[in-house]
Amino acid sequence: MMIPTMGSAPKGNLGSRKGIRPDEPECLFSRREMLFKGATALAVLPIVVHFPGSAKGLEAILTRYPRKKIGSLKRLVTDKPVIFNYPDDGAQSLSLLIKLGARAGGGVGKDQDVVAFNATCTHQGGPLVASYKAETKTLGACLFHLTTFDLTRHGIVVSGQAYQSLPQVALDVVGNDIYAVGITGLLFGRFDNIKG
Ligand code: FES
Repeated sequence: MMIPTMGSAPKGNLGSRKGIRPDEPECLFSRREMLFKGATALAVLPIVVHFPGSAKGLEAILTRYPRKKIGSLKRLVTDKPVIFNYPDDGAQSLSLLIKLGARAGGGVGKDQDVVAFNATCTHQGGPLVASYKAETKTLGACLFHLTTFDLTRHGIVVSGQAYQSLPQVALDVVGNDIYAVGITGLLFGRFDNIKG
């Protein structure tokens, strides 16, 4: 059986497709198709931001998230978390802005060490807001079932019962002002980070 590849279409099918020249291979778009499909794709593409320091270019979809000022680079003290709410003031919105003093995935600032995370455990909603450990740059162990999350590596689970990383808040810096602009992952207890 002959498998069509780019530039090698079975000759028997050529010329039977509406609006396409007979000499165009089966698996290639005509220019008109390409333009139409391209325009459709552009219309639904989200605006994304690439976390600095992330080898894989981890992205957060930002189109629907509010832009909220949550702190200042000048005022942050290493290993002293600042509490804020994001993306709203509703359930499970409690979050932490932390200058880790160590380079981190998604970190901002000149040392890429300023990160922010939601502070509700992804397992069963245990509170993490008071559980930061400066020695290991982790959040946890969760009071409920002891999960610990690594804040230098996008909140991945280090140990414990949870199997989803802690949602990371995407940050943007203008001058010294730090803005929350998006979230990776779903907040515990929500079906949609924005709608609740
Ligand atoms: S709720 Fe945090 S480990 Fe279970």
